[in-house]
Amino acid sequence: MSEGIILEEAPDIHAQFQVSSPAMMVIFGASGDLANRKLLPAIYKLSQQRLLPPNFVILGYARSPLSDDEFRHRARTSMVGNSEVEFQGSAWDAFAPRLFYISGEYDDHEGFERLQERISMLEEQWNIGGNRLFYLSTPPSVYEPIITCLGNADLVKPAGGHNWTRVVIEKPFGSDLQSAHKLNDHVLSVFDEDQVYRIDHYLGKETVQNVLVFRFANGIFEPIWNRNYVDNVQITVAESIGVEGRGGYYERSGALRDMMQNHLMQLVSLTAMEPPIAFDAKAVRDQKVNLLQAIRPLSLDEVPDYVVRAQYNAGTADTRPVPAYLEENGVASDSTTETYVAWRLEIDNWRWQGVPFYLRTGKALPRKASEISVTFRRAPHLLFDSTEGFDGASGQGETGLQAAIQRERLIEDSLSRNVLTMRIQPDEGITLKTLAKRPGPSVNLTPVNLEFTYGHSFGDPPDAYQRLLLDVVLGDSTLFTRRDEVELAWQRITQVLDGWQMQEEQSSNGSQPFRLPTYPAGTWGPKEADGLLEKEGQHWIAE
Ligand code: BG6
Repeated sequence: MSEGIILEEAPDIHAQFQVSSPAMMVIFGASGDLANRKLLPAIYKLSQQRLLPPNFVILGYARSPLSDDEFRHRARTSMVGNSEVEFQGSAWDAFAPRLFYISGEYDDHEGFERLQERISMLEEQWNIGGNRLFYLSTPPSVYEPIITCLGNADLVKPAGGHNWTRVVIEKPFGSDLQSAHKLNDHVLSVFDEDQVYRIDHYLGKETVQNVLVFRFANGIFEPIWNRNYVDNVQITVAESIGVEGRGGYYERSGALRDMMQNHLMQLVSLTAMEPPIAFDAKAVRDQKVNLLQAIRPLSLDEVPDYVVRAQYNAGTADTRPVPAYLEENGVASDSTTETYVAWRLEIDNWRWQGVPFYLRTGKALPRKASEISVTFRRAPHLLFDSTEGFDGASGQGETGLQAAIQRERLIEDSLSRNVLTMRIQPDEGITLKTLAKRPGPSVNLTPVNLEFTYGHSFGDPPDAYQRLLLDVVLGDSTLFTRRDEVELAWQRITQVLDGWQMQEEQSSNGSQPFRLPTYPAGTWGPKEADGLLEKEGQHWIAE
């Protein structure tokens, strides 16, 4: 490192996460959006914090012909314009010389031979030894050819040797159970499972990891985290943006594959799994797999009763106009791709028998919000029975009967229940809603929140990619999905896809053509999704 360069102090607590061994990171798809928006900034920040050694070298590989300098220039431009990066000229000057680029096709033996030569040359020049990390940040259609070419070019060293080789694979990992299984077989014909890091960036979010800490580091919650005390669990991952130019990708994906198979399944697993015996890759992932196995499979006929899908129409979401999904570029005018899914899911084990898990995710909803709400059963006997008691039910002008009905409703309503909400993003934090007495002579109950705000206690959480990349370099796969985990999640999702397909085929054979429910952009989804809960006397909490 050159003298006089100002880097952020690495606090002592970080010492155990400092990588001491040099390594080469090859990014496939290096000229793309993910590399510029997330990967390169994350590596830059890790270097800024001195968590990576000075001879950690990055080699970009993509089809676009770029020189090393052009690649550096692009990276710099995107970092300067990135509000999450505190750009420092001096730190950049130390970082930039470690960036290199080579162009080539993803399925071309000759390109990989040139890659092999460049890697050897840089490894020697920078005294790197042989640690290699391959990052697949490309469209999934080229994952298989890249893996084949890596194997053929002899770029993958066997696991357990003196130097390590690892591969990071972005989502989507397959598009159904069969394709995920096939991709796994292919990846594992070249790599060992221990060398494979299937990424789900939700697991890198501090607040997602905090779900486990909250549950298993505090003695008071685990005893009540079960069917005896929990009434229902809701997980909402809402986005206010539409598909924003990603219509082509989204048409092949839809909300179920894009969000439910990975991010929401991970949130369900962490919220509902049994305590692992240790916080390590095997123990944590074993428990997640057990939980996924316990998710009740759906028969094809059951799918429409448990899973609602819909597509957005034009509207205004979070103050921005959003065109109808069918008007987006790359979207077929008669597309039935869902931009919203709600799923009433059941978990067949002792802990969760009879507790519904309501999941929903969608684009063009009123605001961005990812949160998990655990609603507890209400107090068995309500002592405070004054009609005026509940806030908003003071009964002014109401007859005794109306007031009594109102009170009954409120007691039954979630107003009288404790709700624990873990806000993954934004406004990261945890809220426990409780009832309190409003000061005054009457017993006037009102909900109040016990609040933990992440920003208040710790400042802004770091970006997920920063944490995940560091874990890959350190060789910790706890926050990555294992083969059995990814396939189990796909198995449950594929049942839904099959059920939908059957529904569409049945309607095209009958007199009624299949019609996907719709919702105006900027609303909380279709009425069918509200119906899913209302028939059980529930309503969605996040709004
Ligand atoms: C990605 C999806 O995995 O997650 C996107 O492909 C989605 O469609 C994104 O917008 C949401 O991530 P975050 O971190 O903004 O909630």
